[in-house]
Amino acid sequence: QNNAPVTFTDADSGIIFNSWGIADGAPQTQGGFQFGVALPEDALETDASEFLGYLQCARTEGAGWCGVSLGGPMTNSLLITAWPHEDTVYTTLRFATGYVMPDLYTGDAEITQVSSTINATHFTLIFRCQNCLQWSQDGAERSASTSSGALVLGWVQAFGEVVNPTCPDQISLDQHDNGMGIWGAQLDSNAANPSYTAWAAQATKTVT
Ligand code: HEM
Repeated sequence: QNNAPVTFTDADSGIIFNSWGIADGAPQTQGGFQFGVALPEDALETDASEFLGYLQCARTEGAGWCGVSLGGPMTNSLLITAWPHEDTVYTTLRFATGYVMPDLYTGDAEITQVSSTINATHFTLIFRCQNCLQWSQDGAERSASTSSGALVLGWVQAFGEVVNPTCPDQISLDQHDNGMGIWGAQLDSNAANPSYTAWAAQATKTVT
């Protein structure tokens, strides 16, 4: 996994991301994995509370999900979990105090979608995550600081089934089985952009 960001522009939305990933074919995870963030204009000076995210995850024809920990470890971090079902990519925000099925996150963070794609081997999601960079649950208050110039993030991928896939609040999962890790995601000047507000306005789709 790269620590220095790769700049990547989504052609349809115009959003410019700092991204980090694992190549398709690398040993850590089958199918490769990629995550990107775009941040508000002043995020490298003042901690942002939200970001635009890019996820590209592996799947099989019938199953699969992936996740990002916004704090690094699985525990005490805000967790984003995403999976495709038919023509929709669903997400749920979760929180875990142990290495078991994470609970629903009870804070006011919210995901809205810009776009998604699904094929037989992969799915992608571009989304806005508001109130996602500071979180609090079960007495644990943590944050991810964009002004520090780097985020500590975690990733997981799984080929297992998502039970109740069309009800994000009620899914259940088995332990992930297609790799996991924690990485230091450095931010460079391309991560924060004056177009952020206009880009974020494209996140009009709510999937619940
Ligand atoms: C790591 C269990 C769901 C994110 C781990 C580990 C276990 C575990 C045992 C440590 C494995 C090791 O170190 O060898 C589970 C179980 C789950 C589940 C039983 C559900 C039933 C999730 C979900 C996410 C997630 C939904 C969403 C982001 C992570 C991350 C790591 C991890 C990022 C690596 C960092 C760390 O070790 O803390 N999980 N997990 N997990 N899990 Fe999960």
